[in-house]
Formats: sequence, C-alpha cells, structure tokens
Amino acid sequence: MTEDPFAHLHDEGYGHATDHPRLGAAFSVAMGGRDRISLNGAWHFTRDLFDEGLRQGWYRDDLAGPKHWPTPRDHEVWAAETVTVPGCWTTQRPEWRYFEGAAWYARRFVWDDAAPRLVLRVGAAAYGARVFLNGHHVGSHLGASTPFFAELTAFVRPGENHLLIQVYNRRAADRVPMHHFDWFNDGGLYRDVDLLALPRVFLRQAAIWFSGGMIRLRLGLSDPESGMARLEIPALGITVDVAVQDGAGEAAIPADPERWSPEAPVLHEVVVRFGADSVTERVGFREIKVSGTQILLNGVPLFLRGVCIHEDDAILGRATNEADLRRRFGHLRELGCNFARLAHYPHHERVAEIADEQGVMLWAEIPVYWAIDFANPATFADAENQLLELIGRDINRASVVMWGVGNENADTDARYDFMSRLAGAARAADPSRLIAAACLINRETFQIADRLAAHLDVIGLNEYFGWYEPGFEGLDRLLANSRPNRPVVISETGADAVAGRRGAHTELFTEECQSSILDDQLSIVTKASYVRGFCPWLLYDFRSERRQTPLQGGWNRKGLIAGDKATRKMAFKLLARRYREIARYSARHSSARKVV
Ligand code: GCU
Repeated sequence: MTEDPFAHLHDEGYGHATDHPRLGAAFSVAMGGRDRISLNGAWHFTRDLFDEGLRQGWYRDDLAGPKHWPTPRDHEVWAAETVTVPGCWTTQRPEWRYFEGAAWYARRFVWDDAAPRLVLRVGAAAYGARVFLNGHHVGSHLGASTPFFAELTAFVRPGENHLLIQVYNRRAADRVPMHHFDWFNDGGLYRDVDLLALPRVFLRQAAIWFSGGMIRLRLGLSDPESGMARLEIPALGITVDVAVQDGAGEAAIPADPERWSPEAPVLHEVVVRFGADSVTERVGFREIKVSGTQILLNGVPLFLRGVCIHEDDAILGRATNEADLRRRFGHLRELGCNFARLAHYPHHERVAEIADEQGVMLWAEIPVYWAIDFANPATFADAENQLLELIGRDINRASVVMWGVGNENADTDARYDFMSRLAGAARAADPSRLIAAACLINRETFQIADRLAAHLDVIGLNEYFGWYEPGFEGLDRLLANSRPNRPVVISETGADAVAGRRGAHTELFTEECQSSILDDQLSIVTKASYVRGFCPWLLYDFRSERRQTPLQGGWNRKGLIAGDKATRKMAFKLLARRYREIARYSARHSSARKVV
C-alpha cells in the first residue's frame, strides 16, 4: 500500500507522541556561578496556529530548500524570518499581539566541546514547549514562568546542530493558570536560553540556609554517585567535607554568621564542590519564622511594607531586562518597601538576586489562580512541578521569605486537597521558608477563616473594601469578627485610577479616589494586631484584556504608577509617606512588641 500523504489530516492525536518525556524539576541543574553558553539572539520563527508542525513533522532534520523538495511543503522553519530571543512574540510584531497558538523557534549551533554532557536551559517559555535536536524529540515542558532543562547529550553531534523549540500559549481550562486570568497572555521564549557544558556527574541542587544556629546544606547529584563533597564559606573560615551517598548529601555546621536583613543585606560567598563540578552562591543567612500572629526575621517581629508587582511591560510584554529591573527596585526603594509580592507567577531570576543585594523581602508564587481544575491529577502535577522548579531556582535567595501556593481560590474540597498538598510539597522541598496563599474572605462567617490556613504560616487576604465593595464598614466588621491564629498579610487591596484624572475622592478612577482608599485601608488594617503586612495592588498599571472601558483601554489601572513606569499617581506619594511613618515607628519600637 502506498503511503497516504494526507494521513496527517485525519490524526487528532498528533501531539501525544511528544507530550513526554516531561522535563521537570527532577532535571534541574544547580546554576550558581555556572558558565553559560548563551543562545540568545536571532532565532528563525514560524507561527503555527493549527499545529501543522506536529501534524506534518516540521521537526524532521531536513534543511533542504524548495529546489530540492520532491513534493511541496507548507513550512521552511530554517529559512523563516527571525525574532530576538529572549522576547514575547506578542510584543515583537503588532499583528502577533493576540496570537494564541504554537510557534517554532529554530537555531543552529556548533558544538565541538569535549564536555561529557550537554544540557539546554530555557529560562522560560510561555506556556508549553517541546524541544527537538537534529530531528529527535528531547522532551516537553509545561509552565510559563519557570526554567527547565533538556539534556542534549544523546542527540548532539560534532559540528553544526539544529535546535528547534516549539512554544505554545493557548489557554486551557486544565492549565496553571487556567484559561481565565487578569493579565495579558503573552507567548514566546521570553527569558534567557543557554547551553551548559557539564561533567559526567554534576550538582542538580546545592541548597544552603541558616536555621537553629547551624548553616545547613542539602545537595543532590545528577547520578547516584557516592563520595565526598566539599562546602566552603571563606568569610566564615568554613571548609568541611560532606559525605554523599547515592547522589545525596547534607550537612549542618554550627555557625553564627552576620544575619541578612533589609537593614543589612549581608551576602556570603559559598562554594559547593563534588568531583569535577562546583557551584558558587552568594547567600544571605537569616531565619524567617512565625510565632503566634507575628512574623519574625532573625527573631525580631516585623511589619511588611509591601506592594504587589506584575512582571509586565508595554514594550517588553512578560520579558524584562536589567534597566526595567533596576527601575522597579528604584520605585520600591522610593516607596519605602521592605517587601514585594511577585504576582502571580515566578518572576525573572534576577529579581531575587537584586532583592538579596538590596534587602527587599519577597513573596514568590505560582499561578494557581482562581478556578483551577483542582480535581485533575495532571493539573496538580503541573502546579507541583512549577512550584518545585521555582523553589529549585530560588532556594538560595535570602530575600525570598515565603512561597505563595495560590490566589483567590474558592474554598472547595478539591481545592483544599490540591493546595494543602502543594503546601506540603513546598515544605518538603524547603524547610527554611514560610508558606502563604492569597485567600478570600469567608462570606458565610464573614471572617478571615479559610480552612487552608491550617497548612499555611501566613494568611494572605485579598480584600477591596472601598473599591469593589463600597465603604469600609465591612472591613471594620471583618477584622473585628476574625480570630486568626497566624499572621495575616493584606496581600491585595487597591483601586483603579487613570493617571492625571483628578476629581473628588468619591469619583471612581480618579487619583484622589485611589489615594483616599489606600489611606483609609492602611489606617484600618493596622489596628488589627494580627495584620503584619500591607501589600497594595499594585506598583504599575498592567495590560489586561478583561479591562475594556474607555478609561482602561485594555489596562488594569490599579498601579500606583502608570503603565509608562514613570508617572507617579497621588497614591504613590501617599503610600511613600505612610510607609516612612511606619518605618520610623518600627525603628523606635523594634522590640518584641507590635512594631506598627
Ligand atoms: C484580584 C486578583 C488580581 C486582579 C485584581 C483586580 O484580587 O488577584 O489578579 O488583577 O483582583 O481586580 O484588579
């Protein structure tokens, strides 16, 4: 029987063959100080709205041009136009702004390194990705904001290699986030892409933290090797050998290092070695704990002067760069923040690195956002993997003080099971940080009372009294009604304001309205002794297709600063003043008493 050239038109199972192997946290590589061979720059780019690439096998290693084709083709990925990586295709061409589909990134690289192993690291691909090298499917990844690693060793050849990454940003009900969310659906390879030349055995993880008077190390290798690793912290005169058995090792060394804090963000160089591999980290030693309704940093109660941030930009989309990052931290400093909630997905890895240097504490989270398919085991596996990839990436960042496992999820049994298991997974992966979630008001009892709180260290509360719920009587009543037995952080509150729109504070979308709501909010919530942080929504206006009034024009206008990331609204100045007052009060009363 002759081959049917049209068979692919009738096969709707075309993607299954390349859904696995799934690239996830188990394949991570410890990155501290590691040499990276950058693949950033021009990549050939072919849009693929109907998934023809998987249906017709665009990934086959055939770079022949039309002159050599025996039959016609609909694609030529190796001759397509180029785009810049990292970048979002949604911002790289106006006509691609709303493109929700698949796209093929193609890039040649020459390999002549004698390294025993070669691994590709993709900083982020929104939402899913499939990696092909020289016509071979290497693996697939889910999750738009965490790095993943694809080992190329078995498929790389000396000389020219052909790397293809299929990326797709279609929204779906079983994704994390699902198909309904209040930010722009960007797509693309939007963070760095690198090659890693690695020894035969290398470090997948080297977690270092301080707790209970000890500096602790937990390491994991690429293979079940045994032997001796070495931990070096020159500034503390520490050099110790650590036994490794079947690819795992841990150590606890009595120490009393200078602690990291916002006031003194001290970082120590730490080197971990095993065989031919080593990683070098800059680690801040600190302890973050809760006691009753207090949050303690190095044993001292603190109040988190925060703000929420989306990693969103009118030009860069979901991508960022050093200038955008430095501007962001300049605004945090101007606001007097000692805290930031990185909503609603893992931000660029440089954020926690800069926060380490500048002494800003962070809430980092995964996008378990609104109505997730909580009963779906595959959805849980996706969420858990994104959480473990985030923890693996930022495990040595002192600034990250809490992992957020969800945002505004209705309190159902399926959600309770899903998110309590996520909280458990976070604790098992990282015993050194707090677990939080942005919870909703319990409308039955009108209390801060989410049963998930039993699995959390910090209860985040999203409430919008004064904006979505008129007046503040409800807020007073809620706080008076509630008896949480752990700290509460106001993880979201705020109001829209169009920069430059002035009027009475009772007029919606004016700067006066936004500013007066935040002023009243802060005055009310700080009366409750269990409220230990305030994190208004949010630093900058951001793109959202859910916001279509003429005043919004596809933007959520709750920023303290407009979408130009320059025009400060009245609320920015108000909050900066209020935070300076709180900081002064905290400095005067930084004893074990309530510091606000
Ligand atoms: C919610 C949600 C945010 C959203 C905000 C708003 O609290 O968590 O993602 O942008 O409200 O309505 O502006």
